Amino acid sequence: KLNLFYFLALSFARSFSGNEDVVKRYQFPDKFFFGTATSAYQQVEGAYLDDDKSYSNWDVFSHIPGNIKNNDTGDIANDHYHRFSEDIEIIHSLGVNAYRFSISWARILPKGKFGEVSQSGIMFYNKLIDSLILRGIEPFVTIHHNDLPQELEDRYGSWLCPNIQEEFVYLAKICFENFGDRIKYWATINEPNLFSQMAYVRGWYPPAHCSQPFGNCSAGNSDKEPLISVHNMLLSHAKAVKLYRDEFQQKQGGFVGIISSTDMYEPLRDEEADRQAVIRALAYNVGWALDPLVYGDYPLEMRQYLGSELPKFSPAEINILKGSIDFIGINHYVTAYATDCIHSACASGCDRPIQGYVETTGERDGVPIGEPTGNPKFFIVPRGLEKVVDYIKDRYSNMPMFVTENGYSPPVQENEQVKDLLNDVKRIEYHNAYLAALARAVKNGANVQGYFVWSLMDNFEWTDGYSVTFGLFYVDRQTLDRIPKLSARWYKNFLTNNTSQI
Ligand code: NOJ
Repeated sequence: KLNLFYFLALSFARSFSGNEDVVKRYQFPDKFFFGTATSAYQQVEGAYLDDDKSYSNWDVFSHIPGNIKNNDTGDIANDHYHRFSEDIEIIHSLGVNAYRFSISWARILPKGKFGEVSQSGIMFYNKLIDSLILRGIEPFVTIHHNDLPQELEDRYGSWLCPNIQEEFVYLAKICFENFGDRIKYWATINEPNLFSQMAYVRGWYPPAHCSQPFGNCSAGNSDKEPLISVHNMLLSHAKAVKLYRDEFQQKQGGFVGIISSTDMYEPLRDEEADRQAVIRALAYNVGWALDPLVYGDYPLEMRQYLGSELPKFSPAEINILKGSIDFIGINHYVTAYATDCIHSACASGCDRPIQGYVETTGERDGVPIGEPTGNPKFFIVPRGLEKVVDYIKDRYSNMPMFVTENGYSPPVQENEQVKDLLNDVKRIEYHNAYLAALARAVKNGANVQGYFVWSLMDNFEWTDGYSVTFGLFYVDRQTLDRIPKLSARWYKNFLTNNTSQI
């Protein structure tokens, strides 16, 4: 088996290194961060009730039959809670200088603000952080990545109630106090924009509200709730940053940012209406979470179309929101065509203000926007990363940016052989092409300072469970062994030898 693997690797290496578009490490600044990213519920932890940890909303949600493909759960996930030393070795083996992970809220504050701080939880992250630093790997911490204690979900409907803000600020405070002496890069919240769509429009994330009840999804006000959720997330962010700046930043010398899901759009038709649709789609997608943190309010396009539905910030809130990020985290996977729904009719709900009167699609006249990945959500469009970085650079005065996630995930085919999963040539081509696009943006002056592959290992992809794999390492679901894919070898060579040999 292994011989076949090496034969395939070698033939690929030969053909790939002959390709002129092969990206090289030296095309990025010396100080650039290259890493991999994970999140607590998805893979890192498992150990869902070990030590003091309480149920998180994802523990409860994934246990409800029908919520997750194959009824998978993150109970064990990749069991990183017990195997983190081994995992740090594999991270180190890649030659990366950074690693992004998230904190499980329920592990360190099982009952939120009104309960005890879990010393076992704090100890786990301390060990993880210390071991990373010992290997020269910069830890990038996401304070919240989709999972929170079920108790807070029950009490506040997750992010719908303003009281969640003080809960989050308390979590952030505990993190700054306990880890801030060693953490230089904090991201407060992962993807407020996408999360709020998933949780309150599509019903795919807890608390699973949607406009039309289906399956286990209960009706909410999907025109309003995502707006309220993002609003509470942004205020939570701003208050946590104020706390950091007032009490910790000077001593600890770190930076705080937020991570946004950043899709790119191109006009479906060569018409002004569709060019305007692109402008609206970008404002709604990228500007929604970022404009308030830079300029103190939501994009004009959102105010124009959403009117009084869009929550307002008070003058005091604007004061703390404005300028409350030191960097922007860019998660990028999607480039789509956008078409106008103000002047022409369109399908499925895009003719509503919450959608900005824009319909998006991955195809034009039956031709996909990029190479299909097999996953209907994702096409390979490397120029999309370059364009979205340029857009963010222009919109936010070229403030420091990190590509905090970018990755490739063909759905696992039934009966797919492990050797085929390991021989992930397409993933290599994907990262190579996206890195080449990023290198062009950097060359043209974009202040991007890092790139994180999503993900270190195959993991729990939310409602898709383990059926979708993004990892550089394959994880045997029976033994939990981590096995490097071809892409892991490629990343290492790209980073350490400036080549794309495998
Ligand atoms: C972005 C999210 O942050 C991450 O949790 C998810 O796995 C990836 N997108 C891939 O869908």
